[in-house]
Amino acid sequence: MTTAEALRRRLAATLAEDDWLHDDAWRAAVETEPRELFLGPAILKQSGLPAPTAWTALRRDSIPAEEWLDLTYSNETWVTQIDGVLAENATGPVEGSPTSSSTLPGLVVQMIERARARPGDRVLEIGTGTGYSTALLCNVLGAQNVTSIEVDQDAAERARKALDEAGHSPTLITGDGLLGAPEGAPYDRLIAACSVRFVPYTWLRQIKPGGTILVTLARWSFGHGLVRLTVDDEGGATGRFLPGYTSFMIARPHDHPPRGRLEFLPGEERPSRIDPTQLDDWTGRFVGQLAAPSAERFGTGAEQILLDVATGSQARTRPAERGGWIVEQRGPLKLWDAIEDAVEVWTAAGSPHVEAFGLTITLDGQRVWLGTPDGPSWRLPV
Ligand SMILES: C[S@@+](CC[C@H](N)C(=O)[O-])C[C@H]1O[C@@H](n2cnc3c(N)ncnc32)[C@H](O)[C@@H]1O
Repeated sequence: MTTAEALRRRLAATLAEDDWLHDDAWRAAVETEPRELFLGPAILKQSGLPAPTAWTALRRDSIPAEEWLDLTYSNETWVTQIDGVLAENATGPVEGSPTSSSTLPGLVVQMIERARARPGDRVLEIGTGTGYSTALLCNVLGAQNVTSIEVDQDAAERARKALDEAGHSPTLITGDGLLGAPEGAPYDRLIAACSVRFVPYTWLRQIKPGGTILVTLARWSFGHGLVRLTVDDEGGATGRFLPGYTSFMIARPHDHPPRGRLEFLPGEERPSRIDPTQLDDWTGRFVGQLAAPSAERFGTGAEQILLDVATGSQARTRPAERGGWIVEQRGPLKLWDAIEDAVEVWTAAGSPHVEAFGLTITLDGQRVWLGTPDGPSWRLPV
């Protein structure tokens, strides 16, 4: 057995032990697919130099082969592109945010299992990335049943070569995955490796009634919830958010619009009804985001800053001198009023984790609800 084969087995065993992986077929795929082929010649690691948001390439040929393989077969996400620059093309530190990566293998197999993809299914994957997750899908379902879409030309090209080298020939599309792939529809499952602000109606038309859409809902305040939807035969879908803490980079067309320098202007002050640190909680953030769906959020703890991209409305909190908190708001939307109302509904329900929420989509719109579909709900702007 080669070192790589032994490490693949070790990875599969670790994923099973750590509760990421349960099914023998997917375990065999992890034991077979060569992640080193998909990772390519370099990855990017956050270096913090010369700027806090700087990343530096780590090249395969700059470290001993065993060390590279060890890194490859760890249950880690490795960033392969920053703001459109592939790791292998980085000539010095690169500043920006990850735009492509090889997701941690545990999450890749957990997503596949959670989508309930099984032999016989036709799967549409959004966000090919390095192609590793696509290879696992091909391994179990057969390449003829796998379609994967990647928006980034360089990443798509690289993934195509790696999949070819690994002996897989799924249908690969370079383009916007939010449009789906109507030519191959209908599919049984859709698995998104990027998050969305709302579920594209194009997807609902391309998945069979009874089929599954697994996608992370996110907006610009860093709230995330992974939802598993069952598609109905009336053009809609419904399902619950799942336990855990899953987040993916946002689908490029759903990212926030460019913004100038953050400038906070004076507004109306009053005491806050809620503790702003509730927005630092995973689900508290998700709830705040439901209430202020076009807001970007900056700051942490008692000092939260919200800026509504659509209207320029602002809200800023700070500790009050005699205890409690002050909020200062400005603009046509009272962002903090809406957040307070939503957070109070959530805390009255016992501040449950995100799996207490669900999403219902009809032709009239998309609604996130708490508890049951007729419970308190928030409309998602689409
Ligand atoms: C987390 S990575 C995917 C990881 C991949 N599944 C793997 O295992 O290597 C997310 C990918 O989604 C892609 N992406 C972002 N927006 C997209 C869109 N609208 N359509 C298709 N792909 C998109 C990004 O370019 C990125 O490569």
